Amino acid sequence: MSAKVILIGFMGSGKSTVGRLLSERLKLPFYETDELALAQSKRETVAEIFDKDGEVRFRAIERDVAEDLSNLTDCVISTGGGMGINTECISIIKGNIGKVIYLETSFEETTKRLSGDSTRPLFRDLEKAKELFILRAAKYLENCDITIKTDGVTPPEIVDMISMRITGS
Ligand code: S3P
Repeated sequence: MSAKVILIGFMGSGKSTVGRLLSERLKLPFYETDELALAQSKRETVAEIFDKDGEVRFRAIERDVAEDLSNLTDCVISTGGGMGINTECISIIKGNIGKVIYLETSFEETTKRLSGDSTRPLFRDLEKAKELFILRAAKYLENCDITIKTDGVTPPEIVDMISMRITGS
């Protein structure tokens, strides 16, 4: 299977879970930008990068990660929630061949999925997370080729939908 699939979407939209399953389905290697960013930092967690080095530093590392992924061809890439609104990063990763899939999830569903999660620095304050969600929605739509609504849909079903759109089967 020849494809470069890039998953974007807000925190909790299922990018990592779906990305992993999709890579198994398409028999392609899987990359996660948060994991790659972490590997480039001297920190243990993404939250620690935010807390000790600041968000600006994290975004600079994400930009480097985008460059590293630009030359790859056949793979599935799951991006961090902030990378999907960065048009420059997305077009660097995408090149001429990538297909960008936006996993669209309502804020209500997102809060259900992330309740009790303390690993995401930008989801610590619910009011601020909601503002971010509203601010970002249009940008995800602008940066994607295909939108998949995920509310009430299981990850394997989402994989079926993406696979159908990309491979026709
Ligand atoms: C972020 C989302 C996180 C991670 C970082 C910033 C964001 O990734 O990159 O905490 O700006 O939305 P997930 O979308 O995988 O939670």
